[in-house]
Amino acid sequence: MNSTFDVVVRRKRQEAQDICSFELADALGRPLPAFSAGAHIDVQTPHGSVRQYSLCNDADESHRYLIAVLKDGNSRGGSRSMHENVSEGDRLVISAPRNHFPLAHAPSYSILLAGGIGITPILCMAERLARVGEGFELHYCTRSKDRTAFADHIRASTFASQVSFHFDDGPSGQRLDVGKLLANPAAGVHVYMCGPKGFMDAVMGAASSTGWPESQVHYEFFGAEPMKSDAESGFEVQLASSGRIVAVRADQTVIDALEAAGVSVATSCEQGVCGSCLTRVLEGIPDHRDVYLSAAEQAANDQFLPCCSRSKSARLVLDL
Ligand code: FES
Repeated sequence: MNSTFDVVVRRKRQEAQDICSFELADALGRPLPAFSAGAHIDVQTPHGSVRQYSLCNDADESHRYLIAVLKDGNSRGGSRSMHENVSEGDRLVISAPRNHFPLAHAPSYSILLAGGIGITPILCMAERLARVGEGFELHYCTRSKDRTAFADHIRASTFASQVSFHFDDGPSGQRLDVGKLLANPAAGVHVYMCGPKGFMDAVMGAASSTGWPESQVHYEFFGAEPMKSDAESGFEVQLASSGRIVAVRADQTVIDALEAAGVSVATSCEQGVCGSCLTRVLEGIPDHRDVYLSAAEQAANDQFLPCCSRSKSARLVLDL
């Protein structure tokens, strides 16, 4: 983590099924470092792992950071420990905000698309655009009403009329037709999207098939779910520096196998999102499961993310 500081959990709230929000304030009562819409912080979870969470409150606020955490069934402990082991009054160690997903300067119009917990940076963007009076619409897709965090807040907001909710289990007429929504790229209009991989694939596919320029399409993957196939198999990794071979079992990540063998690789998200664990591959063909590398970078097969990716060949030789 970058430079860190302590915050106190002022409020913990169940926002939706499996989603809790946490309102964080400086432990010494000072104003918090400023942030802009789309920013995230690193949080040291009670489990010990560091997770990135987008700030979802109005970026003009300096007395609090608001984050929301989805309890991920596949979690190795990070999100689960936030839900189960963090209470109001507890202290957490966090980093200052960073922003890899900023709003474009002076757009003529913005189309915001959120899938599930991906609402967090998108909500912050909506708050900002509403505050400065810039035109936008927000489409918020979730599996069901009871999994829709911040719905009451959005319905009570000044921008409620600009928001459409789309529920997977609702009538077909209210589902988002993303092809229709993005059918006509227009100069000055920017598209922002955040959500799980399936949602992002659908929106990015629609944007690219209708010819949206890359400079007008902005995205952030959220909580990439490790892609698992039903029949994982084990393989070996070899450390180039020593020649040592480490077996990776079918139910282990490469990071876990290396750790068990006393070899540590820096990690952060452990979900193939942040790039912290990027490792050079000298021989063998990785089975890329991340959302960090571009398609071209994955195809080069000379690096991979061992927190989530595996191997297509019986052995990978790693530059470790
Ligand atoms: S730890 Fe974030 S990509 Fe591997």
